[in-house]
Amino acid sequence: MKALDTLPLRFDGRTIRILDQTRLPDAEVWLDGTDPDMMVSHIQHLRVRGAPLIGVAAAMTLAVFAHRGARASAVRAAGLRLRAARPTAVNLMAAIDRLLSPTLPRYDADALVAEAERIVAEDIACCDAMGEHGAALIARGEGILTHCNTGGLATVGIGTALGVMRRAHEAGKGIHVYVDETRPLLQGARLTTWELARLGIPHTLLTDGMAASLMREGRVQRVLVGADRIARNGDAANKVGTYGLAIVARHHGVPFHVVAPWSTVDLACADGAHIPIEHRGADEVRGAVGGFGAVRWAPEDTPVYNPAFDVTPAALITSLVLDRGVIPPDGLV
Ligand code: MRU
Repeated sequence: MKALDTLPLRFDGRTIRILDQTRLPDAEVWLDGTDPDMMVSHIQHLRVRGAPLIGVAAAMTLAVFAHRGARASAVRAAGLRLRAARPTAVNLMAAIDRLLSPTLPRYDADALVAEAERIVAEDIACCDAMGEHGAALIARGEGILTHCNTGGLATVGIGTALGVMRRAHEAGKGIHVYVDETRPLLQGARLTTWELARLGIPHTLLTDGMAASLMREGRVQRVLVGADRIARNGDAANKVGTYGLAIVARHHGVPFHVVAPWSTVDLACADGAHIPIEHRGADEVRGAVGGFGAVRWAPEDTPVYNPAFDVTPAALITSLVLDRGVIPPDGLV
């Protein structure tokens, strides 16, 4: 397996390391993710996160496991555990399925490694293509609102929605990015702000509930978000809060784009009602949890509803910005 050195993931020929995203922005801590069960835990705890990245990270771990001499049955079992680590981002299942298929009917560790390398290369190339297609949509001086983290931390390339903003910024379009904090795990407040600051892109942090009044003030010309799974009819699952943002954008006549690589499209899934939505622990909502520690502000036993994702209906999406080009949401098939 070729060495890799990206913002969230590194491989030096022996060891896979992941940047612990629960510790950002205050600490840059690298953790070993070489063992498949370690990687399952990193994915479940969101130390490594973002739809494209969890597919790439799981594929690399499985390929390295195979290359180190694991038996076919062990590789298959580890692949199935990785595949089930989180349910919503189809990139994870798609990547593992690509690796497990060469293990049948004859196990070939080299084939797994080659497939994982292809997945890495495709992710980087898809990000570049989305960046190019998306940046072409953006006019000079736009205020762009985004949700969650869709940047270099969520992929091994420049990112999806944030990659588009990066290319628009580099093209001198003078954009300003408004960042939803993204409760409950604060991927916007902790990760997107960190990336935007590193890239020198002007930005302002908002609580999730501020988007509507910002739009009414006329400060947002476009919304760009990523996706964890896009169904055949164009319905798109993304970090919880995205659906509300799409409704608010429609009310204010603001274009709403979903930026994603083809690995996020699930043509086998008819519509958003069939996308499995991950539900997470109550403590994430009763307070704040993460690598920074935990704090609780709600009563200890308050009942909690905590879906990690919601589904934006295709009817609220202006266009899908894919690596293959910009298409209407009902244009997948
Ligand atoms: O729970 P997370 O942080 O993995 O959720 C990530 C998102 O919802 C992103 O918007 C999505 O994966 C697209 S990232 C390029």
